[in-house]
Amino acid sequence: MAKKSDKIILTGIKPTGTPHLGNYIGALKPLVELSKKNRTYMFIADLHALNTIHDSVVIKRHTYEIAAMLIALGLDLKNAVLFRQSDIVQVYQLATLLSNVTPKGLMNRAHSYKAMVEKNTASGDDIDAGVNMGLYTYPILMAADILLYNTDVVPVGADQKQHVEFARDIAGYFNNIYGETFKLPEPVISESAGVIPGLDGRKMSKSYDNTIPLFAPESELKKKIMRIITDSKTPDEPKNPDESTIFQLYKHFATEPEVAKLREMFVAGGMGYGTAKTILFEKVNSVLADARCEYERLMANTAELDAVLADGASRARVVAAETLDRVHRAMLG
Ligand code: TRP
Repeated sequence: MAKKSDKIILTGIKPTGTPHLGNYIGALKPLVELSKKNRTYMFIADLHALNTIHDSVVIKRHTYEIAAMLIALGLDLKNAVLFRQSDIVQVYQLATLLSNVTPKGLMNRAHSYKAMVEKNTASGDDIDAGVNMGLYTYPILMAADILLYNTDVVPVGADQKQHVEFARDIAGYFNNIYGETFKLPEPVISESAGVIPGLDGRKMSKSYDNTIPLFAPESELKKKIMRIITDSKTPDEPKNPDESTIFQLYKHFATEPEVAKLREMFVAGGMGYGTAKTILFEKVNSVLADARCEYERLMANTAELDAVLADGASRARVVAAETLDRVHRAMLG
């Protein structure tokens, strides 16, 4: 993990689903580690959920879930400013201002918009069918998120790299016209976790319906793990750990010697997949048990979560107001 630096780190998590083991390994756990050593802005990107979720109850529930998970996993709330994106009014304002220096062509090139256009073209629909302006201008709002807090570094998954590059481009256009106003942010892509397989062996993803929820009650966790799809090797046969979802998940929870031991058991033969699943379940369950307990407590006390988020918002707002003021003066005098 990165050593402590003076760089300003920021990242957002979109509240569009209940976080699962893939999110934990790829995003939540690294963010919690980051917060132990660095000052970080971490927000729940509820405004970015609005282009797909038109139900306030759902957005609010996922927002609480993400906040509760991060806190239960040990987020350092002294270093991390944890807040809800929509609590900072300056982000809406900055997005409007930035839209005036953002070329439309840049938005046309955004991966998620292009994917919709390609899908519509293939099916013979109007190219913009199903595209709202929230989707189309998503990168401008994200640039506002990043630029509002004088961010240097944005840790994101590979799918978000282009958005961070756009934020950098937009900052550059702005600076060219109005003089040095924004720092140019850089994406940092965490590739180390690799692809986390889901129940069916494909990438664990809500869209494949193959996820294992991070803080499912113990009995549900067990049921899900027992449902992991395997090949049809008999218990006696040697098995390939590198092709096994069970082993790939185990790697992220167990210690090195434990991982080496399970690898041997796969290769040697004599262990059925049922046994391997039980070993995986017991490990995951013991690693997550305390945090799950705290998560459940927080979800039953959302007033406590509101207080944490309100505190984060008041800290974030100080910087946001200062930046917006600077931009406003540059553009409007
Ligand atoms: N778009 C990101 C995602 O879908 C979430 C996000 C919103 C974000 N604003 C951000 C990430 C700013 C990093 C920085 O996951």
